[in-house]
Amino acid sequence: MDAYVVVLGGLNFDLVIRGSRMPNKGESVFGKSFHTFPGGKGANQAVQLARLGVQTCLLGRVGNDIYGDHLIASLEGEGLRTDALIRDSELGTGKGWVFVDDEGDNYIIILPEANMNWAKGDLEALADLLSGAACLLCQLETPVPIVKACLRQAKDAGLMTVLNTAPATTLPADLFTHVDLLILNQTEAAFYLGHAVAGADQARAAAADLLAKGCGAVVITLGDQGAVAADGSGICHCGAFSVRAVDVTAAGDSFCAALAYALLQGDDLYSGLKFACASGALTVTRAGAQPSLPKLAEIRAFMESESARHVN
Ligand code: RIB
Repeated sequence: MDAYVVVLGGLNFDLVIRGSRMPNKGESVFGKSFHTFPGGKGANQAVQLARLGVQTCLLGRVGNDIYGDHLIASLEGEGLRTDALIRDSELGTGKGWVFVDDEGDNYIIILPEANMNWAKGDLEALADLLSGAACLLCQLETPVPIVKACLRQAKDAGLMTVLNTAPATTLPADLFTHVDLLILNQTEAAFYLGHAVAGADQARAAAADLLAKGCGAVVITLGDQGAVAADGSGICHCGAFSVRAVDVTAAGDSFCAALAYALLQGDDLYSGLKFACASGALTVTRAGAQPSLPKLAEIRAFMESESARHVN
């Protein structure tokens, strides 16, 4: 693909313990393994785009430490543009403390450090970075005013703007008007709407309500029930691909990047959801954040082999 995409977002050094269950308050339990992986929602989404063959530039901050060195080297190995990454002289590189249980479900504490230490002056080069780009993809591991400023500038410059509201945090009402595509999970949808969102039927109603906030389209991911999308022309649901879960970490990131890729390719919303569900499903079958993100050929082969079993 010729399109060039800018990702604004967080980079974390993930410290991952697997075990049967999380301890209760005051309790100690034994874990089963410990690994470290490159992670962070922004970096994960940027790596997923690069593995789909998209020229990608990651805009973010890391500390001036060995973790930052490691993350940058790993991103360079993926062929990503890293010249817009800022080394923070005050704070260290972000960390993700991840617990993964026997079902592959995760529990994550994010220590943002440099990821949240932005100043307005850090965006001086933004116009140059966005020039020639087709899309800006953001999450919420960077400060909301920075996310909003980037979305507004990208929208004004005619780029497709995508916001993945993870982790959910309070947003100014007018931010949504700068977003062409809003992607969130059921928990995040509940946060923004103030009521529970569970299952495809409730997600359809929630997507319509979120659309009314002023975005161009809304996608709510439903884990093993697929995803629902709403835009000006209607609402659709795409079922999930059934896989054995090893580790769900970065499945949402894979989904967001894959959906942006599909829409940039000219896919309609339903076809984009199906491609993104396939990418997310493959991610779930492998351990770790960035190591688990699939390449384009793998997704295509998986979709062909699984199409008969896919529930629309
Ligand atoms: O979405 C998964 C990511 O969330 C992990 O890589 C972790 O760093 C946190 O940012």
